[in-house]
Order: sequence, then C-alpha cells, then structure tokens
Amino acid sequence: MKKVILSAVLGVAVMATGALAGNGEQLFKSKGCAACHQATVDTVGPSLKKIAQAYAGKEADLIKFLKGEHKAIVDPAKFAIMQPQLNATKSLSDEELKALAEYILSFK
Ligand code: HEC
Repeated sequence: MKKVILSAVLGVAVMATGALAGNGEQLFKSKGCAACHQATVDTVGPSLKKIAQAYAGKEADLIKFLKGEHKAIVDPAKFAIMQPQLNATKSLSDEELKALAEYILSFK
C-alpha cells in the first residue's frame, strides 16, 4: 500500500482591515520591506507593531514619511539605514501608499 502524505499548508490571511490592507501586504513584501521589518520582533528595523504604535492615529504622517516628507519618529538614530528604502515608496501612487500605511498600522 502506498503511503499518502498530505501536507496541508493553508496560509489564509484574513485581514480585519480588508482588501486595502491585503494590497498593502503585497506591496510590503514585493518592495523588500519584510527583510528588515518583522511583525512583533525588532530585527534590522523596528517591528511593525512598534511602528504602528508610534503612528497610531497618524496615518497621514506615516504616508508623508514614506514619501520622504516627514522625519523619522520611531528610531531616528538608525534613519540612515531606512532612508534609501524610501526610494521604493516615494514613487508609489497615493492609493498604494494608503494601502501600505494601513497594512503597517494594522499591526497595532
Ligand atoms: C535594510 C533594512 C530596511 C529595509 C529593507 C526597510 N526598512 Fe524601514 N526601517 C529600517 C530601520 C533601521 C528603521 C529605523 C529608523 C527609522 O525609524 O527611520 C526603519 C524604520 C521604518 C519606519 C518608521 C519610520 C519612523 O518614523 O521612524 C517605517 C514606516 C518603515 N521603516 C517602513 C519601511 C517600508 C515600507 C519598507 C519597504 C519599502 C522598509 N521600511 C524597508 C530598516 C529597513
């Protein structure tokens, strides 16, 4: 008899914030942000939770930061590492920036 090994890996991400944040997640991954930002643990960059807490209720400021128009408030001493990454976000449309910001803020 053949052994049937079933590996059921279901990665169903149900985002409370809906389709917009889902799109933000795609952007976050495709732009390489996940290399330095984890959900709850600080690695090279601060965790998404920490960023979401710093920007709670300040989505407009977060969008400005991603456009390179707002100073760093989370870990300014390490901004030199983050600064070049803004080249990947500066050119995004307003809609994409909003989706990205909402994705980040959903980690609060
Ligand atoms: C090479 C590592 C690295 C990559 C890649 C990276 N970041 Fe960062 N990020 C950092 C570091 C380090 C900080 C802390 C400095 C700071 O606060 O600006 C940071 C801070 C931030 C902050 C907080 C800004 C603030 O006010 O302090 C946001 C938001 C952010 N990153 C978003 C992103 C997004 C979106 C991407 C993908 C386009 C990204 N990061 C890619 C390293 C990285």
